[in-house]
Amino acid sequence: PRTYYFSRHGESEFNVLGRVGGDADLSCRGRKYAASLARYFNDAGISGLHIWTSEKKRTKQTAQNIKAPKEHLAALNELDAGICEGLSYEEMQDKFPQEFAWRDQDKLRYRYPWGESYMDIMSRLGPVLLELEQEDNILVISHQAILRCILGYFLNKKFEELPYINVPLHTIIKLTTFGYKCKMEVIKLDV
Ligand code: G3H
Repeated sequence: PRTYYFSRHGESEFNVLGRVGGDADLSCRGRKYAASLARYFNDAGISGLHIWTSEKKRTKQTAQNIKAPKEHLAALNELDAGICEGLSYEEMQDKFPQEFAWRDQDKLRYRYPWGESYMDIMSRLGPVLLELEQEDNILVISHQAILRCILGYFLNKKFEELPYINVPLHTIIKLTTFGYKCKMEVIKLDV
């Protein structure tokens, strides 16, 4: 068996404001989650634990106090919302109503102008997924859209389902794989 742990970054200042994208710091609650996460992993004493984060401040800050080697991968960065980076969903609907409607109609394939679609994420994650399958006792700290795609891959979800998979904040998702079988546990941490 192989064991994988996944987590979104702790709540960020942009999450608080309901804004997408950017490179914000963790909020106060987010920093509390980072502390709980560090306590969880530092107490668990998992042999050979290592961590991959994205290159964004919020995932690095979430990993900060966990005692384990870390790598920061651009392939784990959040879906690039292009011209909508930094906007709230209301502002998007206001400024770009046609774009907003197109995304709603086909969230999987919709590509933000100068940005990415969920399908684009699946292609940039390809090499990471192949590498991940060879790993064990790894913690991946990334973002909502990226973790939807990674979890969807391991759980054999249809592409169409990926953009809607629920990946809550402040929660560890533990996957244990036995060949093609995969067991999922959800560990909610107090913040
Ligand atoms: O901007 C990135 C969000 O985490 C993805 O959420 O694809 O549901 O808009 P969304």
